[in-house]
Amino acid sequence: MVQSPTKPLPKKLHIKTFGCQMNAYDSERMAEALQPAGFELTDDQSDADLVILNTCHIREKAAEKVYSELGRVRLTKEARKARGRDTMVAVAGCVAQAEGEEIIARAPVVDIVVGPQSLHRLADLVAERASTGKRLVETEFPAQDKFAALPLRATGKRQVSAFVTVQEGCDKFCTFCVVPYTRGAEYSRGPAEIVAEVERLAARGVREITLLGQNVNAYHGDGPDGGAWTLAGLLRRLAEIPAIERLRFTTSHPRDMDEDLIALFGDEKKLMPYLHLPFQAGSDRILAAMNRKHTAEEYEALIERVRAARPDLALSTDIIVGFPGETDADFEETLALARRVRFAQAFSFKYSARPGTPAASLEAQVPEAVKKERLAMVQALLEESRHAFDRDTVGRRLAVLFEGKGRKPGQIAGRSPYLQAVHVEGPELLIGHIAEVDIQAAGPNSLTGVMKSGFEWREPVQAAG
Ligand code: 5AD
Ligand code: SF4
Repeated sequence: MVQSPTKPLPKKLHIKTFGCQMNAYDSERMAEALQPAGFELTDDQSDADLVILNTCHIREKAAEKVYSELGRVRLTKEARKARGRDTMVAVAGCVAQAEGEEIIARAPVVDIVVGPQSLHRLADLVAERASTGKRLVETEFPAQDKFAALPLRATGKRQVSAFVTVQEGCDKFCTFCVVPYTRGAEYSRGPAEIVAEVERLAARGVREITLLGQNVNAYHGDGPDGGAWTLAGLLRRLAEIPAIERLRFTTSHPRDMDEDLIALFGDEKKLMPYLHLPFQAGSDRILAAMNRKHTAEEYEALIERVRAARPDLALSTDIIVGFPGETDADFEETLALARRVRFAQAFSFKYSARPGTPAASLEAQVPEAVKKERLAMVQALLEESRHAFDRDTVGRRLAVLFEGKGRKPGQIAGRSPYLQAVHVEGPELLIGHIAEVDIQAAGPNSLTGVMKSGFEWREPVQAAG
């Protein structure tokens, strides 16, 4: 592409990420895609020549939040303009996909709108915007092109734990959810490409990989052998990479938990005992209206099977309260199920009508005040359940993968196998390593403990010269 000599390409990049881990992954990949074009990341928006908002559309007022954020970006852009500096503004992610041209019409500050499946085209879009002066909207599918075209992962950031998207999109069409519309049809990346990516991450010091997908356990990548790989097959293969010590995956759908994957929780030491498995609602009537394709009883039976394979499994879930037509009795069933399962972690949300989804046009919408009350009730229960899980780990010795410095000087912080944050006094040299910690206390959001007794860290002998 010919670049205008009068308008050099901007060079500092600021990305603001909203929403899920997949967006966090996409933001990293965008930064990588822009690196060859000379962009460096900055945390300071006012220093950035290119600002990207990587947006999320899943819950309430998503689009409105983006527009008000764009109002703030406009102020930064104007302040920079006064200093003689140009700022390019791009909106990426699911709101970009859903709103498309609407963003260009409503927000004059925006130069580029780019959907999640077109990230690999960012550098071209930036160059095109700079040279033609035209505002651009790129919301094409499908995902195949993106992964093939993105550069190899190469950010210099030192990372102990990394996300890798292996699957995108969803064909389940839960009636409340925008994902099938914003991320498109279910697509799995090929296992060879994923293994290569994980090997590169491992070589850069990454010790833990979390495989991401909206419906990650529906993974079915075409192998070089011609056969389709399941998620269990992929995890087994990744476990063979020596430097990778921990594996996790999220988010799973109850319908796609096959026997092989369940068994892996018992068989594969590197697969951490943590499973995020949304159940959304405890009433079968509501589950049917949500098109979840499972009953509460089936969900619980499934949990029992995974717990049989891995008795200390930490379970996490997503819950929606106030889905259209949800009565007090239906909601009681959600509470009862949550009480029986005893989740270690949970995310709960008030139902929010997403434009274009089937549930949005149902008549029996639940009043806001009722949703609010139910949310408070379910959250109190889930908090208690989380604390109970944390308290049960006090007195145990847990293997902690250290990821960085702790809150207080002299402390380092990491994660237990159950994904609990753990703070402990210890040398920074342990960052990037697993060490055993005797857990002594459970605080509101993290555990504290001491290094296993007898643990003594010796500085490695320095070679002379
Ligand atoms: N309203 C409220 N919560 C929602 N979620 C998805 N769509 C909606 C919606 N329209 C929640 C679900 C899902 C999580 C990622 O977000 O619980 O599992
Ligand atoms: Fe959305 Fe998950 Fe349902 Fe797919 S399975 S439609 S991503 S809630």
